Amino acid sequence: MNISTSERAAQNGASHNGHSAPNGAPHSNGHGNGAPAHKAAEPTPPPALMQFADAFSVAMADAEAAHEARTSGNPRGPVTGFRLLDTELGGAFAPGVHSINGDPGAGKTAFALQVAATCQFPALFVSCEMSPAELLRRHAARVTSTFLGRFKSGELAPDKVRELYQQAINAAPLLGLLDATKYPAKPGHIQECAQVLLSRHAARSVLIVVDSLHSWAEAFAGDAGEYEALNTALASLRTIAHNLGAPVLYVTERNRESMKSGAGGQSSGAGSRKIEYGAETVISLNRANGEEDGDGETPIILKLAKNRHGAVGKEIRLKFNGALQRFRDASATDSGPWRR
Ligand SMILES: Nc1ncnc2c1ncn2[C@@H]1O[C@H](COP(=O)(O)OP(=O)(O)OP(=O)(O)O)[C@@H](O)[C@H]1O
Ligand SMILES: [Mg+2]
Repeated sequence: MNISTSERAAQNGASHNGHSAPNGAPHSNGHGNGAPAHKAAEPTPPPALMQFADAFSVAMADAEAAHEARTSGNPRGPVTGFRLLDTELGGAFAPGVHSINGDPGAGKTAFALQVAATCQFPALFVSCEMSPAELLRRHAARVTSTFLGRFKSGELAPDKVRELYQQAINAAPLLGLLDATKYPAKPGHIQECAQVLLSRHAARSVLIVVDSLHSWAEAFAGDAGEYEALNTALASLRTIAHNLGAPVLYVTERNRESMKSGAGGQSSGAGSRKIEYGAETVISLNRANGEEDGDGETPIILKLAKNRHGAVGKEIRLKFNGALQRFRDASATDSGPWRR
């Protein structure tokens, strides 16, 4: 396989300043919400005085792309794979940052990994809490319908495990991983790797997932307090989303009040109001008031606590199978207990 210079640099972990837009970066397509780099290296020009006529061509291109996506059935950007949720998001994740929070152990990582692996576009999963081998096990559990515990117990013969892993690997050809559990993944490196995936797969968009924002921010914190570290991390992710014209989905921890009430509302991210403030959407995963059923599935209510592209407060019923690390849409089929 031919490996370009930028690809080699990304694989070697070479990293540039996280706030510069490398040449050739796809640009925001008009509904991106990127903030300017928080510490710009060079002075930027002031915003031009415009009238609506000046926004016409960008808005028209957007309308054409939306129409093309609708008539062809090909999403214009990375999707979640959950039909109702994708509709609420406007058909696909919009460029910009998206936040997901949830109860501890509600399946945030499982949800984010499933979305990254099935979003129909290249995806870069920046893992700050789980090793790539553990992610492969979890992905393999879902793809091959093999209980996660069986990969760890030794009950499966190595040849069988090899076959299952191969099946899982083949099922996610567009997924890239960054292991940020040992060394921090700097913003510039994340952007560079996302660009490698874009050109490797000749794709129009890429989904970046950061699990979790708090762990990622902590890696850069140095002497900075949590609030400052989170704000710096958020500004960096917004800049990446803006530079690539792509969506960035970050997992967040809940603050204590929200944890106690289980509300998971718009201001539930721990540490900084900006976690939700700049986000296109805030997705909340809550265990519904129901036990695991006979199929090993737990009812989960996915709530759109914030949504710039559709109705706010919309709740979507999902089921989470922890042993298989699999979420499925349960809105059409289940009538069981769904209240928290
Ligand atoms: N071997 C297993 N068998 C059954 N369920 C499992 C197994 N391993 C994990 N789970 C389920 O998966 C859940 C964890 O999923 P996941 O790691 O995606 O959650 P999370 O919300 O990201 O958690 P955290 O808050 O720790 O980051 C656990 O709460 C558990 O219910
Ligand atoms: Mg997790």
